[in-house]
Amino acid sequence: MTKKKKHHDHRLGLGIDIGGSGIKGAPVDLDKGKLADDRLRIPTPQPSTPEAVAEVVGQILDHFEWDGPFGCTFPAVVQHGVTQTAANVDPSWIGCNAQDLLRGKTGRKALLVNDADAAGVAEVEFGAAKGHRGTVLVSTLGTGIGSALVIGGRLVPNTELGHLELDGHDAESRAADSAREREDLSWEDWGARLTRYFQHVENLLWPDLIVVGGGVSKKFARWQPYVETRTPIVPAELLNEAGIIGAALLAGAES
Ligand code: BGC
Repeated sequence: MTKKKKHHDHRLGLGIDIGGSGIKGAPVDLDKGKLADDRLRIPTPQPSTPEAVAEVVGQILDHFEWDGPFGCTFPAVVQHGVTQTAANVDPSWIGCNAQDLLRGKTGRKALLVNDADAAGVAEVEFGAAKGHRGTVLVSTLGTGIGSALVIGGRLVPNTELGHLELDGHDAESRAADSAREREDLSWEDWGARLTRYFQHVENLLWPDLIVVGGGVSKKFARWQPYVETRTPIVPAELLNEAGIIGAALLAGAES
């Protein structure tokens, strides 16, 4: 498969989502914002060093016989290809030019992007905030809290709003889905934490819409009644495919 090969007259890209437990990838129909093939998931190697992860990324590209440019997400700050933080990943990523490493290891042109940023782009392009021209905040609730700020269709990268300090804590340590699980919080108690978090964020940014992603967005109806915000909150629509789709879109737009 080569870059932008016509497939039923649609442009194709390839996206890979690097997570703490799995690395997932698939070809993406860039016109429809849908996976063009079944996705492949390979467990994240442990320790998840840049070299070991790049190896798995190469296996995914080989599996789909993909030779063109590809997009790849990473759950940390990615500034011009350099991974700058490592809140929930191996510390050896800090300061690594992971984008160059991926290019070197796989022999294909890589675009590396923060995971929430990729999901945010996908949700605004094809999902819950499709076509929105205002200020959209996409918040992913998982092990950490990811954030994507998209204004008038343009992404402001690496906003990292999961690490706002709130009541003396790193916000994600209190309000991420992992905090709910770790502390065995009821939906109501977790909803109160989310209220505190989202009210803080909306007072900073005054978004027009908040889109909530991450696995727990599937259970939106369970916790949404306990979250009070002035901003409308909706669940993400692309769910666990948003990262793959967004990464492929961003790589397709760059190449
Ligand atoms: C990281 C972000 C990431 C989020 C979701 C946070 O801990 O700092 O870069 O987007 O987790 O994975």
